[in-house]
Amino acid sequence: MPAEHILSLTVNGEPTRRLVPAHRTLLDYLRDDLDLTGTKHGCDVGDCGACTVLVEGVARLSCITLAVEMEGRAIRTIEGVAQGATLHPVQQAFDTHVASQCGYCTPGIVLALIALLEEDPHPDDATLKNTLGSNICRCTGYTKILAAAREAAGRGPGEAR
Ligand code: FES
Ligand code: FES
Repeated sequence: MPAEHILSLTVNGEPTRRLVPAHRTLLDYLRDDLDLTGTKHGCDVGDCGACTVLVEGVARLSCITLAVEMEGRAIRTIEGVAQGATLHPVQQAFDTHVASQCGYCTPGIVLALIALLEEDPHPDDATLKNTLGSNICRCTGYTKILAAAREAAGRGPGEAR
């Protein structure tokens, strides 16, 4: 197997083409090669969700994904979520409910919720909690994150379903 590959993929709507080592993770490719540092290093073993990105709209852990596996795919990172100065509704809900403290987990959680809501715009609480359970937040206790998630799902912050 060659040690390096020419990798072509689309990131946030922009085509990219780079020579990458076969062992480089998608996370390192995004952060170190493309300077897209909104995607975070957390555990680096697939447990915390900080490195979540969307691959063809599906949430994926970039720390345990090889960049070369992504040949020809469309990737969306947190940098591609807002439209100019207009926040995505999930980001807006986080802002409204002050659902970030240190913010380290926020990109991964926002992207995981976007993936969920694009598939099911009105998920129940069990589904929201199941999604949030894949992303570790060490600051907030999740109360405000759940309130933001409920709002993004079209409900009031305390409105369980
Ligand atoms: S950094 Fe990828 S799951 Fe924790
Ligand atoms: S806001 Fe700090 S880890 Fe979630």
